[in-house]
Amino acid sequence: MKDYLNRIGVLTGGGDCPGLNAVIRAVVKTAIHEYGWEVYGIEDGFEGLIQPGKVRPLTFADVRGILPRGGTILGTTNRADPFHYEVESGGEVKVFDVSDNVVRQAQVLGLDALVVIGGDGSLRIAYEMSKKGLRVVGVPKTIDNDLQGTLVTFGFDTAVNTAMDALDKLHTTAESHHRVIILEVMGRDTGWIALKAGLAGGADIILIPEIPFEISEIVEKIKSRSQHGAKFSIIVIAEGAKPAGGEASYLADRDVGGMKRLGGAGEGLATALKTHVRADVRVTVLGHLQRGGSPTAFDRLLGTRFGAAAVHLIAEGKLNHMVSLENDAIVSIPMEEVVGKQKFVPLDSDLIRTALDLDLCLGNTRTFILSL
Ligand code: F6P
Repeated sequence: MKDYLNRIGVLTGGGDCPGLNAVIRAVVKTAIHEYGWEVYGIEDGFEGLIQPGKVRPLTFADVRGILPRGGTILGTTNRADPFHYEVESGGEVKVFDVSDNVVRQAQVLGLDALVVIGGDGSLRIAYEMSKKGLRVVGVPKTIDNDLQGTLVTFGFDTAVNTAMDALDKLHTTAESHHRVIILEVMGRDTGWIALKAGLAGGADIILIPEIPFEISEIVEKIKSRSQHGAKFSIIVIAEGAKPAGGEASYLADRDVGGMKRLGGAGEGLATALKTHVRADVRVTVLGHLQRGGSPTAFDRLLGTRFGAAAVHLIAEGKLNHMVSLENDAIVSIPMEEVVGKQKFVPLDSDLIRTALDLDLCLGNTRTFILSL
C-alpha cells in the first residue's frame, strides 16, 4: 500500500488543547521523512474541506518551532459538522448535509488519507465520513480525558498541571483569609481533571459528576476541619458535578457542536454553602486557561508519538483506526469501538481509594463509595 500513497491531509477539530501542534509536527515530519509523502494542512477542522481556500501544503519549515506552542497552527472549530452544516442566510440558519462534498473535495485534493486530530465529536464525524469512503485515522485529543479506547488523551496532563498550579495559589489566599475557596474546573461529564488536580493540589473536597454530592457531607467536612484548627478549605468542583437528585448547571446560551455549555457549578455550590458555613466563600472559575499554554513534557511526548504512529497506520493500510496509549505502548483501536463512548472515573479506582485514604471529602462517600 505504501508504494502508491503520496499525499495525506491533517486537520484539528473541536476545542483546542495543548499538544495539537506536537501532533501536527510529528505527522508532517514522519510523513515526509519516512515515506516521502506530501502533507496538506486543512484549516479549521472539516470546515477546511467545505469552504474554499483553506488548504495549504505543510513542509518542515511550517512546523519548525511549533512543539512548545499551545493552540493549533491549523485553527479549529466545533461548528463544522458536515452532516449538520449550518448556513446563515437572511438572518435564518439552515442545516445541510454536505458530507458528500467533503469526500469529493478530499478526492480533488488527491488526499490518500486524512489524519483527524479530535475529541469525541470530530472522531465521530471522521468515523461517519469513513463509511462514505474517506480514508481516515484518528488521534484522540481532549483536556477532559473522557475518550474510551486510550489510557489517556494528550492535553489532559497540561490541564491538570494548570489546575494544580491554580490550587497552589488559592491555598495561600484561602489560608490567609480563613476562607472556603471553590475552584471550578472543566471536564464536561467526567471528573478526571477535578480528581487528579485535586489530589495533586491538596484539595480538601473534590466533587465530580460521577458522585452526585450531598451538601451536608461537604458542610460537615468544612466544620470538622475548622474544629481541628484548619480555618480554611479548598474545594475543587468539576463543571459537570451535580447535587444528589439534581442536575448539572448549564449556561443559557446556544448549544455548541450539539452540546449545551456547562457553567455555574461553582457559584451554585457557593450559594448552597453560604447558609451553612460562617467563613466567606469565594469562587474561581478556571475556564479556558486549562486549554491554553505550552504543553507539558508528557503531552509533547504523547502528541509526538501519536502523530508518528498515525502516519505509520496509514502506511500499513490500517485505516479507520484511532491511535491510543495502552500501558506505555502506542497501539491502535478500530474507531467503531470508541466513538460515542465516554470514559468515566471508575468509582473503584485507586485514585478514589487514595482520596479516601487521605480523608478527602468526595461529596457523597456514604452512598456512592462505601456501598461498593
Ligand atoms: O471538551 C473540552 C472543553 O474545554 C470542556 O471541558 C468544556 O466543557 C468545553 O470544551 C468548553 O467549550 P467551549 O470552548 O465551546 O466553551
